[in-house]
Amino acid sequence: MSRLVVVSNRVPSPHSEFRGTEGGLAIAIRDALEENGGIWFGWSGNITKSPLDQPDVVEIGKTTYATVDLSEQDYNEYYSGYANSVLWPLFHYRLDLTDFSRRDMAGYMNVNAAFATQLQSLLREDDVIWVHDYHFIPLCGYLRQAGCRNKIGFFLHIPWPPEELLLTLPNHESLVREMCTYDLIGFQTERDLSAFLGYVRKETNGKVRANGVVKAFGRKTLTGVFPISIDTAKVSELAEKADSRPRKPDLVEGVPKAKMIIGVDRLDYTKGLLERLEAYGHLLNSHTECQRNVVFVQIAPPSRSDLDSYQLISQQVESAVGHINGSFADFDWSPVRYLNRGFKRQTLLGFLRLSQVGLVTPLRDGMNLVAKEYVAAQSSEDPGVLVLSRFAGAAQELSGAILVNPYDIEGVSDALARALIMPLDERRERWEVMMKRLRQFDIVAWRESYLQALQGVMDAA
Ligand code: G6P
Repeated sequence: MSRLVVVSNRVPSPHSEFRGTEGGLAIAIRDALEENGGIWFGWSGNITKSPLDQPDVVEIGKTTYATVDLSEQDYNEYYSGYANSVLWPLFHYRLDLTDFSRRDMAGYMNVNAAFATQLQSLLREDDVIWVHDYHFIPLCGYLRQAGCRNKIGFFLHIPWPPEELLLTLPNHESLVREMCTYDLIGFQTERDLSAFLGYVRKETNGKVRANGVVKAFGRKTLTGVFPISIDTAKVSELAEKADSRPRKPDLVEGVPKAKMIIGVDRLDYTKGLLERLEAYGHLLNSHTECQRNVVFVQIAPPSRSDLDSYQLISQQVESAVGHINGSFADFDWSPVRYLNRGFKRQTLLGFLRLSQVGLVTPLRDGMNLVAKEYVAAQSSEDPGVLVLSRFAGAAQELSGAILVNPYDIEGVSDALARALIMPLDERRERWEVMMKRLRQFDIVAWRESYLQALQGVMDAA
């Protein structure tokens, strides 16, 4: 069996004591690497004055963790610049926040070229390479230039933008050309795939076959939809264990019978936090019975905080939380508990299980695994209700959620009111439908379906 080589910007710590705090992707990939042997390659998370031109290699069991440092200039141009100030906002439909410069684009290409060279030195002929996310779109092209003939797949974790938005990117054509160097391109949803195919049809002379094979730029590439999922059984188990801890009284202060609404998101402008807070404020005004009887816990660990757009959203969220608490709080009740920090995975899952409503309202999101985790963390006897943005990829699968338009403040407020009083029968029915899907399509099914498709490309080649 071929060795798997995984490439992602973030590489989880190889040290076992950090296990249990990681997300589903890390667990799924680590399991695959441990079973069959392989390499996880990416950025070390370190910025150094003069990065080495050899990766730092740590071998644990059958897995090799190979990481590369970035110089400050590379970090600024590749990570903060092109990846997170151009691709991230643009692919999340925030054209207003994109800040393109040729210097950053060149930095992004340089880092991809350097990573390709370093990865090449570790490769064997029959390795299967799986590249993750928008940081590494040109990686395959550089590997090919260096003579790499391995099968290489790409999975995009974030949305692919509609053609009209993509056309605003000065190097849109070269980016799509880079995508087409891969053997398999995986997207989260049909919408993302069809946006990509739409561009190929209209802007290149490319052909799209019914089986998802794209012929463009003189190459053939298979495309497909592979919605990422969670380790459903593990999430349920951890949440159930965490449930035994008496945390709810701590979270709802002087009103122990209060119902809890929870949001868990990186502090990012794509997550719709301001609109969500406004909707909650509207709920407190329009349903006065919710005052003193509901607590909204928003957990939002800081993210990419050296970028202006992230500093701004952080200030805006703080001010919106302050405004709601200032308007409604009583001496023993704060309507919003805003926790601007991360928590251990099990603690988080415990919070999700304790909450009667999971409020997941991104303005745009590739998938949103918190939505799936909220469902898996519920108890079967008394499950909570998921209020979910129709613009999250997860909305395509979680049909038992109350789907909302996050821009419709009154609509989200109505959905919250409905969720808070939803009868047990309806809650169970909705939850069962979603759990069935999550049990069947968990993170292992996701990984296997992607790797099988990549293998299929290999067999057909
Ligand atoms: C999103 C992206 C990931 C990224 C994560 C955290 O989920 O799809 O690729 O790793 O955000 O962002 P960060 O910039 O801290 O890696």
